[in-house]
Amino acid sequence: MKIEVLIPEQDVRDRIKEMADALSEKYAGEEVLLVGILNGSVFFLTELAQKMSIPVEIDFMAASSYGSGTESSGRVLVTKDLERSVKDAHVIIVEDIVDTGQTLHLLTEMIMERHPASFELAVLLDKPARRKVCLDADYIGFEIPDAFVVGWGLDYDQKYRDLPYIGVITEE
Ligand code: IMP
Repeated sequence: MKIEVLIPEQDVRDRIKEMADALSEKYAGEEVLLVGILNGSVFFLTELAQKMSIPVEIDFMAASSYGSGTESSGRVLVTKDLERSVKDAHVIIVEDIVDTGQTLHLLTEMIMERHPASFELAVLLDKPARRKVCLDADYIGFEIPDAFVVGWGLDYDQKYRDLPYIGVITEE
């Protein structure tokens, strides 16, 4: 297995700071609820939250798209729901990547049915070439080509989530 650096650590950190600044400006004077999608969002969410200059609350949901390795089957199962109500909260879903869009499509619908005060979607990476459902994130860290990436929470069979850069697996 070989992993090549696609986005170096400092570039990721700089971009997350820009996203945090944009969110802090937009929600100035408000309190926001960051909803992280487990497990992939954890590294991005903590960095984003620490760089934001407004008060944030944090909660998590988990969804699994059946399958392992680099292909998902397209069927999404919600395995953990939020601990708190989102009614009247300014909700920002925080996710590692939008690939086919199926996971975020389902989770977005679930949140919207609960009538938050507002709702936005922040993703570290976007792979538009693979989209199967219509889904546009409000904040995107980097648009990347159709390659399987690891690091910053993204895994290959549960490994490499802790890499501090975004890497591409180039060889088995
Ligand atoms: P979706 O296809 O947009 O529903 O994405 C589902 C999930 O697949 C994401 O939240 C990631 O956890 C995972 N995923 C998609 N692309 C990659 C990748 O390139 N590397 C690691 N995980 C990925």
